[in-house]
Amino acid sequence: MTASPEVAIRAGGTEDLAALVRLESLAFTPPWNSVQLASYLALPTSRTWLLSGGTPSRTLAYALFQVVAGEAELLRIGCDPAHRHRGLCRRLLAEALDALAAAGVERCFLDVAAGNHAALALYRSLGFRETGRRPGYYPSGETALLFTRESRTAR
Ligand SMILES: CC(C)(COP(=O)(O)OP(=O)(O)OC[C@H]1O[C@@H](n2cnc3c(N)ncnc32)[C@H](O)[C@@H]1OP(=O)(O)O)[C@@H](O)C(=O)NCCC(=O)NCCS
Repeated sequence: MTASPEVAIRAGGTEDLAALVRLESLAFTPPWNSVQLASYLALPTSRTWLLSGGTPSRTLAYALFQVVAGEAELLRIGCDPAHRHRGLCRRLLAEALDALAAAGVERCFLDVAAGNHAALALYRSLGFRETGRRPGYYPSGETALLFTRESRTAR
């Protein structure tokens, strides 16, 4: 676990379901529901990171990955809207990517809506590069950008 005066970052698990349900419903429309999140947490391939802070301390941000055969996919990342643009997800994602790389993950993939400027800036700032796009990929009709980050060359 990493700690500073303000936040703590740690790996999560099934015991974090309630916090994830709460944050997911704040971050995404539509959110994954508790059944979907519980199914994700039950997978042996799931890797979850949480960031907590405040007084009293509560979970403020989360990142959900799936890791298979040395490759990770970032499935969800979200921050409590009251705590956005304070660098929390950058810290969380940077630490999670470092931990994955240390565990042997060679690259990380994700997809992001072309109009999600906050997420695009976050990913680019951490070394993700666009490697493809899928027009009309999301139910909204928005284009998905596919991003990849190579663990060895990202830093
Ligand atoms: C995208 C999201 C996870 C960013 O979390 P966050 O904790 O606010 O991000 P950070 O404060 O760590 O910001 C990191 C960088 O992202 C960019 N960024 C974050 N919020 C931004 C905003 N509102 N506008 C523009 N850029 C923004 C900036 O480049 C920022 O770096 P800077 O502060 O040095 O300018 C958050 O907005 C969120 O939960 N959104 C809803 C869920 C979502 O869209 N997830 C991604 C799906 S692909």
